[in-house]
Amino acid sequence: MSLGSNIQYLYSSNLLDLLSKIGQIANKNSLKAYVVGGFVRDLLLNKPNYDIDIMVEGDAIPFATSVGQELKAECKLIERFHTAHIYHENLVIDFSSARKEYYPHPGALPEVTFSNIRDDLYRRDFTINAMALSIIPDQPFELIDLFNGKQDLDSKIIRILHGRSFLDDPTRLYRALRFGDRFNFIMEPKTEMLFEKAIQLSYPSSLSTKRIAAEIDKAFNEKRPLSLLTKYQNTGLLAYFHKSFSEWTRPDFKFSIVPALTTRLRSKFKNISDSAVFWCFLLSNMPLEEAKPLLNSSGLLHTVTSQVIDSLNSWQTLLSKLIIANNKIEIYNALKNSCPESIALLYLKNKNKDVEKKLNLYTNELASIKPLITGDDLIEAGIKPGPEIRKIFDRIIEKRIEGFSLTRKEELDLATAISNI
Ligand code: CTP
Repeated sequence: MSLGSNIQYLYSSNLLDLLSKIGQIANKNSLKAYVVGGFVRDLLLNKPNYDIDIMVEGDAIPFATSVGQELKAECKLIERFHTAHIYHENLVIDFSSARKEYYPHPGALPEVTFSNIRDDLYRRDFTINAMALSIIPDQPFELIDLFNGKQDLDSKIIRILHGRSFLDDPTRLYRALRFGDRFNFIMEPKTEMLFEKAIQLSYPSSLSTKRIAAEIDKAFNEKRPLSLLTKYQNTGLLAYFHKSFSEWTRPDFKFSIVPALTTRLRSKFKNISDSAVFWCFLLSNMPLEEAKPLLNSSGLLHTVTSQVIDSLNSWQTLLSKLIIANNKIEIYNALKNSCPESIALLYLKNKNKDVEKKLNLYTNELASIKPLITGDDLIEAGIKPGPEIRKIFDRIIEKRIEGFSLTRKEELDLATAISNI
């Protein structure tokens, strides 16, 4: 079964040409290359997926190096794992060497040896993720389905490939629920039985905080994070990160409003991170001195970690300031330096109607008030770069909040007047 026309339909001829070219480069080097994993699964589901994983029977390092040279693309080699990333146009293409895995103990990262496509597909989590697409020039875009992944995909089934799968890698317990929830699939009875056994025997306790955090973080980026979190909670998987995480369903916590809240706030603060808001809220239920080291060992993106720490540090002070703020300027000054995640956390933590009105006023009106002039205009007018500029902008914004509709010239005059004081 060739899937070339499916690729053309879902993506463009460019991607088809790119994959063919990578296959030809492999062939020139006497290697066989395949696209593997989520891309193939999603292609059969007619869903675009721009995470392209290429697997080659042989060493991926020299192969990715020649692909990088031919495409004139940046290539990053990870010699230790015999993997590589190529940055081509807007795509990141991952390269790996077909391998067999051996897990020295449950939850550990595997020891690997070079192998062939069958072993490489067999070491994977579920049959639906263990299909490949040949890019060998003689077999273009031929589906390689050695473990009946397509049949399971059509029957909406999650099935592990062998009995040790959950023991080898307990993150697969989270993944089974995640794919099940995302695609509305159910576990096949033997997989489900081994899933339950794995939970009873506490397999996830062998996982590092980092690996569990990565799984929870992926849930936050799913379309329906609350549905998946509920499943993590009901199976006990959430509590392996921290026992307090299971409190999120308490009726007095407003966790269920998180997705709608972040979507609403995104229309005002386009950089708000869903993931950071979820972490903020979950970690805000534990003492700060416990939350910080946990977060620092979770291996999340540095930007997420710093937004969360910043919000956890500041929300109580911001709340006190908002309670006593009496007018628009005081509300603006209380919140002007906070990141969008702190604002979200305030919405979630606050129980006071008056404070909620002030938050609405800030997000719907005050936060978007900006001067017409820019920092460059001020520098051109002879004002030194530095804290002075922030002070001038604040004053102009305060004027606008007070109801003055200033022209650019009036703003510049005000700036010069302030800088001469
Ligand atoms: N994989 C695995 N076991 C894991 C993680 C990954 O076998 N614990 C394999 C699967 O074949 C998977 C592939 O590696 O398809 C890529 O992993 P990942 O990018 O995490 O998953 P995707 O299937 O691409 O899923 P998503 O759509 O969530 O990115």
